[in-house]
Amino acid sequence: MIGERDPTYLRSDQYRDSRNLETRISFYQRYATNPREISSWILEQVRLPDRARVLEVGCGIGEFWARNLPRVPAGWEILLTDFSEGVMSAARERLSRAGRPFGFRVADVQDLPFPEGSFDGVLANHMLYHVPDLESALREIARVLTGTGRLYASTNGAGHLAEIYELERIFRVSPDEHEHARFTCENGASILGRYFRQVRFLRFDDSVIATSRDDVVRFVLSRVPEAMATPERTATLQAKVARLFEEGGGQLRAGENIGLFEGSEPWRPGTVSEEEPAV
Ligand SMILES: C[S@@+](CC[C@H](N)C(=O)[O-])C[C@H]1O[C@@H](n2cnc3c(N)ncnc32)[C@H](O)[C@@H]1O
Repeated sequence: MIGERDPTYLRSDQYRDSRNLETRISFYQRYATNPREISSWILEQVRLPDRARVLEVGCGIGEFWARNLPRVPAGWEILLTDFSEGVMSAARERLSRAGRPFGFRVADVQDLPFPEGSFDGVLANHMLYHVPDLESALREIARVLTGTGRLYASTNGAGHLAEIYELERIFRVSPDEHEHARFTCENGASILGRYFRQVRFLRFDDSVIATSRDDVVRFVLSRVPEAMATPERTATLQAKVARLFEEGGGQLRAGENIGLFEGSEPWRPGTVSEEEPAV
């Protein structure tokens, strides 16, 4: 199995350390056309009390908090978690000088080490699509939330960066098989509807216009399994990107499809409906 279909790939390759994620975050920062920054937009949508216990699952390099520091309510008690210590150590380092206490803990969202009703809010930004057992992850999130707690989960949808993701075929990674299909802007509401009585969806309009070929090459390489990135395939990628830039008059445009779900009124364990989840 290659890439996303290999259960060890995410921990041992893609998120072994923070480098791939940093490459992609800086690509978006550089080339996103919406002047609105997504983390601050997400924070604006979050409806939690001024005093709240907040858990982030799949925190990555702590981008959400680093970007929002001055705006985060002082009364929030915040715990960041990720299943990769390698990635999370970058978040710890980054937020160590933030001037407020953040908690950190290695945890897999499919098996959260917290008692029932421990949090008023859970953030799961751009991570649920990675989770092999989405049903366990959502059951766990609903379990650790209080009865009035809320989940915020951002994700991508159909056609997101299709012009760039197509290039992954060079590395035998088919965009059709991509993990993003597990939890998308399109299927997220029906999936979350099994774990939350209320689900709200908000779209974030954006696209990218990349002006450096090398940055596009780095972005694609950051998403493919290391072993597949042979020198020959990398040379093919560089040539294809060069051609796309020629056709695009020195730039490459790609559409984005991003949204945020809010799940409220979680079903308590044992109250999930009998239907099979749509995952
Ligand atoms: C695309 S990154 C998003 C990071 C961050 N939420 C953000 O929006 O910048 C996905 C993150 O989810 C983490 N992750 C993947 N599967 C996970 C799991 N089963 N449990 C916890 N974290 C997981 C990865 O290590 C990675 O840091």
